[in-house]
Amino acid sequence: MLRYSIKCELSGPVCSIRMTSRLLGVPVFKVYAFYVDGLLVDTGFSRCRKGFLKVCDGFPRIDTVINTHHHEDHTGNNFWISKRYGILPMGHPRTTTYMKSPSRWIKLYRRFVWGTPPPADMAPIDSEVRTRNYRFLILSTPGHTDDHVCIYEPNEGWLFSGDMFLDEEVRYTREDEDIYELLDSLKRVAALEPRKMFCSFSGPIERPGDALQKKIDFLESLKEKVEEGIRQGLSSKEIQKRLLGPGDRFRFITEGQISKKNTIQAFLRKSQASLLDIGGHGGLKS
Ligand SMILES: [Fe+2]
Repeated sequence: MLRYSIKCELSGPVCSIRMTSRLLGVPVFKVYAFYVDGLLVDTGFSRCRKGFLKVCDGFPRIDTVINTHHHEDHTGNNFWISKRYGILPMGHPRTTTYMKSPSRWIKLYRRFVWGTPPPADMAPIDSEVRTRNYRFLILSTPGHTDDHVCIYEPNEGWLFSGDMFLDEEVRYTREDEDIYELLDSLKRVAALEPRKMFCSFSGPIERPGDALQKKIDFLESLKEKVEEGIRQGLSSKEIQKRLLGPGDRFRFITEGQISKKNTIQAFLRKSQASLLDIGGHGGLKS
């Protein structure tokens, strides 16, 4: 029923590896990994192991593997890559902990879509990684997850942004995302003025400055509108419908892990507290 396809595209020396899962021929989920100069950024999902390893075998060499975060569509083939090339993937220290027992944190629908990665050893990453021709800075960028890192090559202006950006307007949020940390990460990264962004969801992006600013503006506008809704005494459901439209289809498919409700709740957690702190009125109805 579920099938997988892999497509590679070159942007200069960077190879984008797009992996798509299809249900009855219709693309449902996609994720990108990237390769440049012996560096592999993320390892895709375990259900497409065969195709992914075949692609990796076609690269001139693989010297270094970095995971942007622990999610199973980014770390799915760590174990097999380690075994095949004798390399220990690197990531945030928390990523190394997550990868000791992936089955403890992967929900059922994600096991179905992506597969469950085997436990894999990893090494904590330093603040800088060098390949033969490039120097990559490792930036802690929490928000999407608590272990998220971006990888930045300052001379080329390349930013490997993992799942930090995703898209300019994202209405669905994971239950464990911290929108305020995400906003802070987006602003810090935008200040570097990257010249090309390699996003794990949207692929290569030519004008990352514009894209990052649009995402920042979208989230800040949403934050202001949520606060306005609280002041008007609206319920969280009313705010959600007003700002994100009716329906919340992913909520049921994903057992509540990804939803519009999570997006509103992520703002409410802090907005409500800060409004109460300054003596705001219009308490929130559930
Ligand atoms: Fe992710």
